[in-house]
Amino acid sequence: MSELPLRRLGRDGPSVSAIGLGCMGMSGTYGPVEDEESIATIHAALDAGVTLLDTGDFYGMGHNEMLIRDALSARERGEALISVKFGALRGPDNRFAGNDARPAAVPNFLAYSLRRLGTDHIDIYRPARLDPDVPIEETVGAIAEMVTAGYVRQIGLSEVGEETLRRAQAVHPICDVQLEYSLLARSIEASVLPAARKLGIAVTAYGVLTRGLLSGDWTPERQLAQSDIRAHSPRYSGPNLEHNLALVDAVAALAAELGASVAQVAIAWVLSRGEDIVALVGSSRRERLAGALGALDLRLGEDALSALERAVPAGAAAGSRYPEAAMAQLDSER
Ligand SMILES: NC(=O)c1ccc[n+]([C@@H]2O[C@H](COP(=O)([O-])OP(=O)(O)OC[C@H]3O[C@@H](n4cnc5c(N)ncnc54)[C@H](OP(=O)(O)O)[C@@H]3O)[C@@H](O)[C@H]2O)c1
Repeated sequence: MSELPLRRLGRDGPSVSAIGLGCMGMSGTYGPVEDEESIATIHAALDAGVTLLDTGDFYGMGHNEMLIRDALSARERGEALISVKFGALRGPDNRFAGNDARPAAVPNFLAYSLRRLGTDHIDIYRPARLDPDVPIEETVGAIAEMVTAGYVRQIGLSEVGEETLRRAQAVHPICDVQLEYSLLARSIEASVLPAARKLGIAVTAYGVLTRGLLSGDWTPERQLAQSDIRAHSPRYSGPNLEHNLALVDAVAALAAELGASVAQVAIAWVLSRGEDIVALVGSSRRERLAGALGALDLRLGEDALSALERAVPAGAAAGSRYPEAAMAQLDSER
């Protein structure tokens, strides 16, 4: 196994590779994928020194966790930390149907995840969204009981705002908060990121490639399947898409000067924002993963960072990052 640069999650949390592997796309979120290639990609990530795998029990309704179980079956359990989100409810028609982060639901979700993952503990466990009907203290308190019982090692959060971070941290140490963060999604800079820093909570940034839009591989002609969540997000269609692709073109011009790909510049930019930020990258093919890891060899100097800032200033992207109903669930955007 190779070594990659490490970053610590929280004041006393574990150190993980600066790039973690996001596994969501391996369960069809962005259209069909082959399990065999997904498993090979997880193996390639581990071999390259990636030590953080991110999943959610609702990604493919259990499929993603079972895929990770299969990938890890021939490996030492300690090779990677597994980060699991829970609480998102779904229906048999695939639709999302709110969130359940009641204390009684926590051990139930956890029991199913442990079974699907084929493990006796989860390294980082987090509610996918704030449940508006449940005080965060109660959810975190219930996960803390699972920490005491040895089923969970660390507690994380996802898409929550400043006040929730503070209230949660008062109950139990929070090692990281997952937030969308990229050149095209910078809303966390206003309050959530500074608050996390003050509290000593790391940020695991997701959507670093704006779900593939900020990768250099997206063409205006691209047709998205109805099952692809991007087909329903304002950022990826019509005049918004045209506007956003013009921003990507500007990044591509800078990337060419640096001898790097757009994806590498996008990842390196997020990593340049602070040592307390880990970039989750959703590569589901070995070739993509190798390209993404190349970002670790790219140092963006002051000139490159200023040029990127001019090319894509904060707030430059058009269209919200989720559809309206999903945006309304984001405590981080309140
Ligand atoms: N907490 C939350 O609310 C939340 C929400 C969403 C996601 N997440 C987590 O964050 C992870 C990452 O986010 P994401 O997957 O949505 O978005 P992302 O990393 O911004 O983008 C993934 C897309 O980029 C493409 N890609 C990957 N590597 C590439 C490369 N080197 N060059 C060009 N394109 C590349 C992928 O294509 P291929 O699939 O073809 O490789 C995929 O279409 C997820 O897997 C999930 O674990 C968390």
